[in-house]
Amino acid sequence: EHAAGTVIAVDGPAAAGKTTTCLALANTFGLRYLESGRTYRIIAFEALRREIPVDDTREITGLCDELLMESRTESLLTAERYASDKLRETPVNVAVSAVAKIAEVRQRVTGLIRLWAKTQAQCVVEGRDIGTAVFPAARVKFYLTASPEVRAMRRVRQERADSYENVLADVIRRDEADMNRAASPLVAAEDAIRIDTTRLTIDQVTSRMASACRNQGLEI
Ligand code: DC
Repeated sequence: EHAAGTVIAVDGPAAAGKTTTCLALANTFGLRYLESGRTYRIIAFEALRREIPVDDTREITGLCDELLMESRTESLLTAERYASDKLRETPVNVAVSAVAKIAEVRQRVTGLIRLWAKTQAQCVVEGRDIGTAVFPAARVKFYLTASPEVRAMRRVRQERADSYENVLADVIRRDEADMNRAASPLVAAEDAIRIDTTRLTIDQVTSRMASACRNQGLEI
């Protein structure tokens, strides 16, 4: 197997607080951090840019292979040449659900993540299927949730770009798409520690996660 003993897996729906708390955890304890959604977003972004239909499995898989060949392993995962705000624009938010549905794409992204994690001492990996499909043997697994309304409100405050109604609709649409796809749908792993962040602050969530890691014997 892969070096899953060193992985902290964090899954959950869009805007449940994964990125913020994972970054806090990683910064506080000196762990490497990987946001797997970024890679799905890069593929969706490139598909839009090259005008490839996002529901064409063959074309998108081909694009995926091309991108993998063009970039070195590390760069498609972190790829700093893609500005984060570009990857978070509405067309990408819509296209990414279609791209993430494709099993061939998931297989390739999963391979990249596993390779990356092998070179890490201890890392936090965030996504939708990290504790279920990518690292079923992860040392500690979290599943973060919050009500759709609170998640939409947080996004609006954070990005200030779109109306609450539009953001809420996008959050609900993506929950639906992520939870109902056939390939590695979003679901809590049986052994995941569930945290409902609706009424918790970032600090409260982060410290709960840190204590849970210590309880599992991680030295952080
Ligand atoms: O975390 P995010 O919102 O940036 O993720 C964008 C999309 O990518 C999300 O709606 C579903 C997909 N995704 C996925 O299917 N599996 C992952 N491990 C991470 C993201």
